[in-house]
Amino acid sequence: MNYRSFGRTGWQVSEIGFGAWAIGAEWGHVSEEDALLALHAAIDQGVNFIDTADVYGDGRSEQIIARTLKQRSERIYVATKAGRRLDPHTADGYNQENITAFVERSLRNLQVETIDLLQLHCPPPQVYYMPEVFGILDDLIQAGKIQYYGVSVEKVEEAIKAIQYPNVQSIQTIFNMFRIRPSELFFQLAQQEKVAIMARVPLASGLLSGKMSQSTTFPKDDHRNYNRQGDAFDVGETFSGVDFECGLKAVEELRQLIPDEMSMAQFALRWILMFDAVTLAIPGAKNAKQAFENAQVSDLPSLSDKTMEQINSIYNKYIRHQVHQRW
Ligand SMILES: NC(=O)c1ccc[n+]([C@@H]2O[C@H](COP(=O)([O-])OP(=O)(O)OC[C@H]3O[C@@H](n4cnc5c(N)ncnc54)[C@H](OP(=O)(O)O)[C@@H]3O)[C@@H](O)[C@H]2O)c1
Repeated sequence: MNYRSFGRTGWQVSEIGFGAWAIGAEWGHVSEEDALLALHAAIDQGVNFIDTADVYGDGRSEQIIARTLKQRSERIYVATKAGRRLDPHTADGYNQENITAFVERSLRNLQVETIDLLQLHCPPPQVYYMPEVFGILDDLIQAGKIQYYGVSVEKVEEAIKAIQYPNVQSIQTIFNMFRIRPSELFFQLAQQEKVAIMARVPLASGLLSGKMSQSTTFPKDDHRNYNRQGDAFDVGETFSGVDFECGLKAVEELRQLIPDEMSMAQFALRWILMFDAVTLAIPGAKNAKQAFENAQVSDLPSLSDKTMEQINSIYNKYIRHQVHQRW
């Protein structure tokens, strides 16, 4: 496993992290046993960074992480998120009372005294223009409740706005073979400011693993069933906002480019690690096999310039017109 500097924090984090949404909920049933085994498999391979949120299974994901880490001695960084417990999810809910209550709840779920990294969880656009919200986070650092904070964003423009707040240490953004725009201007700006970048939805919700077809179905409680049109949350979070059928066509062309020693999921993750500005990718995993396969990517060879160009061409042919300017 290779490690990269996490912005200005001094942390060295594994370039493949662990995305802990699926072990919480909204991806069909994942047993607690599978969840624990997945986390242990990742840590055994050198993964030292876990991304979760207070709303993943209403705290289940945070609690499973706490149980796992009780059994480990390694220093594992855990990033959680706050904001999405607000109902309705409005900017004025991002006040001191609510944010403090969310943080206290995550501290209890994670069984720690200080949260390593707290991220605003894709807040409404107006929040980016409310410096008082970032002031509340500064106060939580002073109070020892959180060590650092960052923002999980939907759009490139939000990321650019967020890093203007001097204590924002990290941006979490969708970045994958089907979501390329962050690498244009934003990566350069983040590097200048030494802001860490977490690439989420790196497998386009599993579409980029190459295992899906037109006949693939998903359980009722899986967002790939109920959020395809964005009925529950931002449509960009499901298959990266790409139309499923069209995504399958692009996947078939991408499949032709996979180097011998890699699975398609590994190929998709290796592509992300080709970008120096990226600190880590945080693939979700539902079992030990997936977690192991994903963590192995750090040790796989780089992709050639020619392959990178061919991937770009496939993006331009199938994907660009659907998503490029949208997020
Ligand atoms: N708003 C936000 O802040 C936000 C939103 C989304 C995600 N996130 C974070 O980003 C993380 C990653 O994104 P994501 O979980 O949405 O999507 P993802 O990483 O693109 O896809 C994860 C899914 O792909 C499948 N998979 C994983 N590894 C595989 C492998 N090696 N081979 C085949 N299939 C594999 C699994 O589902 P199946 O086996 O069922 O296909 C898994 O649940 C999340 O866990 C969460 O921590 C944050």
